[in-house]
Amino acid sequence: TEETLVLVKPDGVARGLTGAILARIEAKGYALVDIRLVEPDRERLAQHYAEHEGKPFYEPLLEFMLSGPSVAIRLAGNRVIEGFRSLAGTTDPTTAAPGTIRGDFGRDWGLKVQQNLVHGSDSVESAERELAIWFA
Ligand code: GTP
Ligand code: MG
Repeated sequence: TEETLVLVKPDGVARGLTGAILARIEAKGYALVDIRLVEPDRERLAQHYAEHEGKPFYEPLLEFMLSGPSVAIRLAGNRVIEGFRSLAGTTDPTTAAPGTIRGDFGRDWGLKVQQNLVHGSDSVESAERELAIWFA
């Protein structure tokens, strides 16, 4: 069975949406394998977001991710990588489809980085790499 890394990012935790997000994941039928509240340092975030280094939103993204705790979730199920990204919706919360986590709970707050509540690994390779970072 496949596994993925899900993060409820600092905006989701601060807004008290962790439970609502977990409820959607559980209702969809995926299995929680591990879950923890994490306060990552800059080094861990730089590893996690290595692919975005140099992009205009990279520094604001790291600052945002350092602004408060996140909830890291190891999630399992057939095609869970694809399935969770479908639950999450597209990256930009303004246009993410209603019915998705980002579409229902997110919006543009006029900040330098999109605050879009959740992260989900985008491939089997990313999932393996990211799970090793967050569940070392
Ligand atoms: P994750 O599941 O968080 O990885 O989201 P994603 O795969 O939909 O997006 P991506 O990996 O491309 O970008 C990582 C994060 O950077 C996003 O979730 C946003 O928070 C932020 N981000 C990505 N693209 C943009 C952008 O064009 N502008 C801004 N301001 N932020 C962005
Ligand atoms: Mg991504």
